[in-house]
Amino acid sequence: MGGDSPIGVFDSGVGGLTVLRALHRSLPRESTIYLGDTARVPYGPKSPDTVLRYAREAAAFLTGRGVKGIVIACNTATAHAKRALTDALEIPVIGVVEPGAAAAAAASRSGAIGVIGTRGTIESGTYERAILRARPDASVFSEPCPLFVALAEEGWVDGDVAELTTRRYLEPLVSRGIDTLLLGCTHYPLLAPLIERVVGPEVELVDSATATARATAARLDERGLAAADREARREYYVTDDEARFSEIADRFLGAPARRVARASLGDVSP
Ligand code: DGL
Repeated sequence: MGGDSPIGVFDSGVGGLTVLRALHRSLPRESTIYLGDTARVPYGPKSPDTVLRYAREAAAFLTGRGVKGIVIACNTATAHAKRALTDALEIPVIGVVEPGAAAAAAASRSGAIGVIGTRGTIESGTYERAILRARPDASVFSEPCPLFVALAEEGWVDGDVAELTTRRYLEPLVSRGIDTLLLGCTHYPLLAPLIERVVGPEVELVDSATATARATAARLDERGLAAADREARREYYVTDDEARFSEIADRFLGAPARRVARASLGDVSP
């Protein structure tokens, strides 16, 4: 395991491909192994213990393939499992919460910051704590937006249904006077044009994916684990329905996901 080993990236399903996309953009020479737990998605409404168990299984799968570091591309899994995985593993573990929170804290002029995510992420308070660590004077207003996950997967990212849902979720946050909105869920970047329209030009959108890619590059450099100049390999594993994953992957990844294979995790058998 060294610079030429792949980076392991996992998520509850297809959404983490938005993080993988940012990683591919920032670190084009790095090989990646992506694991989507499509058999057990969504993680957002599940209890912290259950998500932690799933995350441990995903990490075991990836370390078994010799990865040099793990990116938890799922906000909910980061909220419930980042600390445990960091303590348990020797390799670097990067979550999406700290980088996203730091980026939002830096972007906000007034310190009034909105955070949206799954119910699990918002109820954990992880983003709120991370923002306050980066910026103790901030006021954080959080709102779970669970329907955004289904809208993004259906491709309903525009039109009446998406717009009404977005207004319903976000108008209360806008009325709190936020100047920054942190998209604390893998799926929300797909709705960014609509969210931008609803919250207006005064509110800056920050997405965790880009900030996480930058943090990953920095951690690999720090540990002397950056890849040498050679062709990157990209592999994809899912715990269910490779065909459906491939079908919707390019909307999240911005390119087709080739070579999708079935993975077996814990009680999920191929
Ligand atoms: N990947 C999840 C997250 O970022 C969203 C989908 C789910 O609920 O599993 O929190």
